[in-house]
Amino acid sequence: MNLIFLGAPGAGKGTVAAKLAEQTGLTPISTGDLFRAAVKNETDLGLKVKSIMEAGGLVPDELTIALVKERLASETDGKGVILDGFPRTIAQADALKTFFKIDAVINFIVPDEKIIKRLSGRRLCRQCNAGYHIEYMPPKTENVCDACGGELFTRKDDSPESIQNRLAVYAAQTQPLIDYYKKEGLLIDIDGTPQPDTVCESVRKAIGC
Ligand code: AP5
Repeated sequence: MNLIFLGAPGAGKGTVAAKLAEQTGLTPISTGDLFRAAVKNETDLGLKVKSIMEAGGLVPDELTIALVKERLASETDGKGVILDGFPRTIAQADALKTFFKIDAVINFIVPDEKIIKRLSGRRLCRQCNAGYHIEYMPPKTENVCDACGGELFTRKDDSPESIQNRLAVYAAQTQPLIDYYKKEGLLIDIDGTPQPDTVCESVRKAIGC
């Protein structure tokens, strides 16, 4: 089964994708993580996208589509994937249709005021990328990853200015995909406000998995 996770920045896509992947064997593919790895490794792609990402803008469609196409081509497991954060524009959705079949699109609904609290308190592990929240999902020891002992950090695009820009970009460029996938009969709305385990359970029920 191949899923798209749609939703505003901070709606919980990455958190639920990690849980669902663990429970079902689906492979999570986050374009944000792929771009962040490119930035960290200072690849050509990373150098091109660094400043766009830090400001909360979208990476150009042609770069994003090429990256996802290449990543999906190497996906041979067969169980299926969770596309977390792709597509984010109509052009990306049109392109995806030409090379990959999607079974359902999960749309996480969370009000903006909760999104802002979630993003401003998010922390990530520098080593294993595990996600935390200083209030909602704190690590056992402050700034230390429970899973691997790595140092926790705050993403540059989780600054207040960048969060506002990401929300505006989401409304302008990504929200139209809700209607796009509704028309295709693929959209499933999920309340993203309860605890992550509950949200994950709602997704599993909705997709019958
Ligand atoms: P990306 O990494 O995809 O960022 P995003 O969409 O802004 O999503 P986030 O990772 O911020 O949020 P999330 O929904 O995964 O929430 P999370 O689970 O972490 O993309 C980054 C950048 O890359 C983009 O801005 C763009 O520049 C570029 N990019 C990526 N894809 C692109 C594309 N297709 N086209 C062009 N450019 C692209 O949760 C957030 C916080 O809330 C965490 O602290 C978590 O612990 C907490 N939390 C989660 N769920 C709950 C819950 N149920 N209750 C309480 N707290 C919760």
